[in-house]
Amino acid sequence: MERTMERAGNFLPRVDEAAGTPNAVDPRLVSLTAPASVAAEQYRTLYYRLERMRELRPLKVVGVTSALPGEGKTVSTANLALTAARANVERRILLIDADLRRGQVAAMLGTRSRPGLAELLSGDCSVAQGVRCFRSSCLKVITAGRAPEEPTQVLASARMRQLFQWMRGHFDEVYMDLPPALPFADSAILGHQSDGLLLVVRANATPAQAVHQAVEQLGGAPILGCVLNRAEVGSNPYLKDYTRK
Ligand SMILES: Nc1ncnc2c1ncn2[C@@H]1O[C@H](COP(=O)(O)OP(=O)(O)OP(=O)(O)O)[C@@H](O)[C@H]1O
Ligand SMILES: [Mg+2]
Repeated sequence: MERTMERAGNFLPRVDEAAGTPNAVDPRLVSLTAPASVAAEQYRTLYYRLERMRELRPLKVVGVTSALPGEGKTVSTANLALTAARANVERRILLIDADLRRGQVAAMLGTRSRPGLAELLSGDCSVAQGVRCFRSSCLKVITAGRAPEEPTQVLASARMRQLFQWMRGHFDEVYMDLPPALPFADSAILGHQSDGLLLVVRANATPAQAVHQAVEQLGGAPILGCVLNRAEVGSNPYLKDYTRK
């Protein structure tokens, strides 16, 4: 684990609520609202680490999870997908909200949540309805949709496996927002169908024990490394302003 952390580990600074411009998009989506910020630069660093890994092995479907609720999975996944879409306009990129319990991607992007993954899996909507363009960008999005009664069953279904196959055939990069790993089996189930998982760790908050337990709970799903989220910029001497004088 330590060695993989070294390879994929990253440092995401805490983002002030005031960062970015006020619009329907959550200001914490700095990759879109404040691309010149230190935080956006860190998402680019993370993205290019994944790119380097892609030179060594296929890494199409990347899931983002964490041990506990509220560690920054959704903010990280959405920023990563937006970074990918900006970096490679010719690539087909998908952001999917696979948190069927508390899906927040739609709210973060300022789009409607339905129809989304739940409706795609229940057969209540077509792919053309469920896979939407984010604004006019090349980023495609599947929001969570209406929370089903048994999210784990739905995610473990044959339909979900078929959807994975379809995503692999139609996209170059897929970024999947997941629920926390300790309370639910969802991340382990989907993690095994992904090419790799990023484990978000909240700086100065997530107990080390919880991270170890989450790794166990993920039951051998491929973990690419950890992402340290909400770190204080001042705590990292390398993140000082470096602008043209
Ligand atoms: N780098 C950051 N800087 C400042 N605030 C952040 C950062 N990352 C996340 N947050 C804030 O922390 C809260 C939780 O973030 P987020 O929703 O991404 O976490 P999550 O792990 O997806 O939560 P859940 O387990 O409920 O799905 C949100 O209010 C979000 O805006
Ligand atoms: Mg979330």
